[in-house]
Amino acid sequence: MLKIGLIGFGFMGRMHFDNYTRLIAEGLPVSLNAICDIRIDELKNAKAGGNMSTLQEVYDLTPYRLYDHFERMIADEELDMIDLAVPTYLHAEMSCILMEKGYHVMCEKPMALNAEEAGRMVETAARTGKKLMIGQCLRFWPGYAYLKQCVEDRRYGAVTQGYFYRGSGAPQGWFLDEKLSGGCLLDMHIHDTDMIQYLFGSPKRVSTLGRNVIQGAGSDIVSSHYYYPDGKVINAQADWTLEGDFGFYMGYRVNFERANIQFDGADVTVNPNDGPGFVPELSADSGYYGELVYFLNAVLSDRPITVCTPESTAATLAVIRAEAASASQEGAWVSVAEPAHP
Ligand SMILES: NC(=O)c1ccc[n+]([C@@H]2O[C@H](COP(=O)([O-])OP(=O)(O)OC[C@H]3O[C@@H](n4cnc5c(N)ncnc54)[C@H](O)[C@@H]3O)[C@@H](O)[C@H]2O)c1
Repeated sequence: MLKIGLIGFGFMGRMHFDNYTRLIAEGLPVSLNAICDIRIDELKNAKAGGNMSTLQEVYDLTPYRLYDHFERMIADEELDMIDLAVPTYLHAEMSCILMEKGYHVMCEKPMALNAEEAGRMVETAARTGKKLMIGQCLRFWPGYAYLKQCVEDRRYGAVTQGYFYRGSGAPQGWFLDEKLSGGCLLDMHIHDTDMIQYLFGSPKRVSTLGRNVIQGAGSDIVSSHYYYPDGKVINAQADWTLEGDFGFYMGYRVNFERANIQFDGADVTVNPNDGPGFVPELSADSGYYGELVYFLNAVLSDRPITVCTPESTAATLAVIRAEAASASQEGAWVSVAEPAHP
């Protein structure tokens, strides 16, 4: 039985909690033993915010041992794995402390605030031999995983163009301090940057326009072009100032030599050049579920993490760094640094 401790019980902590509840009901040999949040007394009876809703408004946490400090939790509990759903500015420090103390760590995206922190996480995971995976959930989202298969097996030839997008209203609290969250670029747009890097490898250069709307939040609207030597035209756009009743959206449109594929957040549609379009049947599960299934099984059977390695999520942060540098130079092309840990 794999014993799990969850740190952070805000929006994503609850999302992970919902998925652990489901996985345990499905018979996976894991148990959620303890939950830690600095505001645990307040949160155990309160609603969490977020751009998608979690299953319950208020959670009954009486079956779990609760903590308001993670050092106390790991001192009192015998755990195998920690799920970190804390704010971004804590990801690197906490992940490294926990791996040094012998825990496998599933940490929310973005990996860290910058490439140096990410490099430290990569190094710590390699040295301690502990499994570390960052919750870049699109890699496990059925609509995006389908695209990855099409790119890999070239069933429609090579990609000629790709447009990836997402948007919502502004998050609240610490998210709006660029120093704590990295702003829309690192917090929201990174999903698409990571997918582009996962699909096509790191681009040679990037050009990003960024627009600040909310004081102190950094670039709230971003639009990036990614240069690849084979000439495919790849761009991504994110905007977290879509207020009113807008809600949340994400999607892509990718063109291949022999088909184009579109994802509207719900369905994938494939339009082959020489035949009728179709909607492939994909799992209705979210990437939040898929990433946990993958990570937990890797830990349970001691299999290496291959879909979302620390090295590859650190490479995404190198692309983000170049995008931030470009945004600060009105979209000038900026080279992406070679990964320190290939
Ligand atoms: N994968 C996704 O699609 C997705 C979506 C939303 C958020 N996220 C990421 O998940 C992380 C958490 O975001 P969120 O929306 O849950 O934020 P949140 O503010 O709702 O929750 C964070 C929780 O961590 C707690 N916390 C803060 N410091 C702590 C500490 N030292 N020890 C224990 N608990 C502490 C806070 O009290 C809060 O309850 C962020 O890095 C964010 O970027 C990912």
